[in-house]
Amino acid sequence: MFRADKILVPTDFSEEGIESSKAAVMQAISIAEDTDTELIFLHVITDDIAKKPLFFLDDDKIAELKKDMRENARSELTEFAQKYIGRRKINFQVKVREGVAYNEILKEANESAVDLISIATRGLSALHDFFYGSTTEKVVRRAACNVLVVRRFNGK
Ligand SMILES: Nc1ncnc2c1ncn2[C@@H]1O[C@H](COP(=O)(O)OP(=O)(O)O)[C@@H](O)[C@H]1O
Ligand SMILES: [Mg+2]
Repeated sequence: MFRADKILVPTDFSEEGIESSKAAVMQAISIAEDTDTELIFLHVITDDIAKKPLFFLDDDKIAELKKDMRENARSELTEFAQKYIGRRKINFQVKVREGVAYNEILKEANESAVDLISIATRGLSALHDFFYGSTTEKVVRRAACNVLVVRRFNGK
């Protein structure tokens, strides 16, 4: 049987469509249920979003807004994780990072020394010309650990 101490579960909060991040979340939950495996849910606040509305603000205000953004993302991520975990017995923690999604996913995987990354084929942009989204493709190419690319989740 496959076992992992820690699984990284990155999510952009995409839930629509069978190939969105929800599938990889459900797959990770199904692996971790009733085991000692810890799930680390990660959301990356991307630079494009973090920078856009800030050009006219002073540094203090920007720092304050970024802090709010991190806190909001943290509670949204906790809610998201709990929604799918439901009543199952799962050890989990949530993390929020800022930057380029694939970079931060790879950094978190190294820093937390995870055994596996569970990532969906597609996310929010869902450009169907490609087999995988660009975040997933880069994570697969560069990760030092195993990567489970989840196309769809059919289990319970
Ligand atoms: N900002 C993000 N934070 C955490 N995980 C992300 C982020 N963006 C993408 N991912 C992960 O990568 C998966 C695929 O997304 P991506 O490659 O960006 O595809 P798309 O082009 O469809 O958005 C998502 O389902 C999610 O698991
Ligand atoms: Mg994306």
